[in-house]
Amino acid sequence: MIEDMSRRTVLQAAGASLAMTAASPLLAAPTRKFRDGFLWGAATAGHQVEGGNVNADSWVMEHLSPSAFAEPSGDACDSWNRWREDIDLVKRMGLNTYRFGIEWSRIEPERGEWSHASLAHYRTMVDYCAELGLQAFVTFSHFTTPRWFAGLGGWEEAANVDHFVRFCETVARAMGSNYAHALTFNEPNLAAQLSWQPEFRQMMAYFPANNRAAARMIGSDRFSATPTFDIARALPNQIAAHHRARDAIKAIRPELQLGLSLTLADEQPAPGGSGLERKIAEVYQPWFEAVSQDDFVGVQTYGRAVVGPTLDLPPPLGVEPTQTGMEFYPEALGATVKWAAKATGRPIIVTENGVATADDSRRIAYIDRALAGLRRAMDEGADVRGYIHWSLLDNFEWNRAFTAQFGLVSVDRQTFARRLKPSGLHLGGYARGNAIPPV
Ligand code: BGC
Repeated sequence: MIEDMSRRTVLQAAGASLAMTAASPLLAAPTRKFRDGFLWGAATAGHQVEGGNVNADSWVMEHLSPSAFAEPSGDACDSWNRWREDIDLVKRMGLNTYRFGIEWSRIEPERGEWSHASLAHYRTMVDYCAELGLQAFVTFSHFTTPRWFAGLGGWEEAANVDHFVRFCETVARAMGSNYAHALTFNEPNLAAQLSWQPEFRQMMAYFPANNRAAARMIGSDRFSATPTFDIARALPNQIAAHHRARDAIKAIRPELQLGLSLTLADEQPAPGGSGLERKIAEVYQPWFEAVSQDDFVGVQTYGRAVVGPTLDLPPPLGVEPTQTGMEFYPEALGATVKWAAKATGRPIIVTENGVATADDSRRIAYIDRALAGLRRAMDEGADVRGYIHWSLLDNFEWNRAFTAQFGLVSVDRQTFARRLKPSGLHLGGYARGNAIPPV
């Protein structure tokens, strides 16, 4: 009976998504159920959607001349004001989880000056999710830090870890208990991973000049922020920050499921010589060790990397490209989930997975293929507790600004009107039924 009900709900929503026809094989074969309580969600990050984050390190870099950013974040999606509408959309789609980021520069715009209004803002978001029956999934740090923190040398200085721990404590105390999952950091291994990409490696030559100009702009002798910081200097401090923040948050919320998320590509060796082992040792291994006591690991996957002797190889000619120049390769998710589960022994939550495309039917195809791989990884033993799609909204995609569409929902650049895309209903249909169709 339950199976029948869920099959019907899945069918209804899948029909609405335009992706399936009346001859859906769902009628003939059993659906593939997910465990009870599986998280089905969509994610955003403070700086990418809120708008007007004038005290963030990224805002400084966006306004340098020259700047690596195609455009400043500006109003972004105006989610600072429209957050309720965003949460309503998550609910309307049928998802049960909303992952969003707390913007440190809103909470502590100047060192030691706390904004009670901003703390209350995020608390209200968490409480509103609970009111709608949604799980709020909180990211304490999604790349950006306050400009004053960057001016103190950011993650490159061990002494700065104290500032982050204090911020986490303050947030944990203010946020109440209406959320059950949180990440200290989003993808602290991103810069290390990017440093294997040829275009990023070229850009790295300009980072010292970028950081000097940013330091001048904020009246400091230093500026250190993601992703232009010194990766090797930052690493031990980021790991210490994760451990200390985790302990501090857990002291306030012992029952909270707490971890961090890692960017994981499906790393494949190029035939004829590959630096794969060195890349794994540099980009992933320190973090696999750092999360060994965490409640879960957040896996964030967008595609594969074919690793040549010293750098990743560009995608081969003829493959389908995404708007960010990656290969359209949803199968990566099953592989990274299995890898992370094996390497860490921790439960897994997919905290990001998605594709940059203007063609929403390709997003639907991406979701279907990624979820099929995820389900197989689970059948083979990976303990996966949730799938959170990136992103809820078409948003500020860092240096690409507004040129890449990752959203299940589009946002008008002038009016900020939101429009639910078929892919949103499609994913929501699976969430409602807690199942995906058979292969
Ligand atoms: C980040 C997001 C970003 C997404 C797509 C992830 O690395 O967490 O902030 O927008 O990838 O590029």
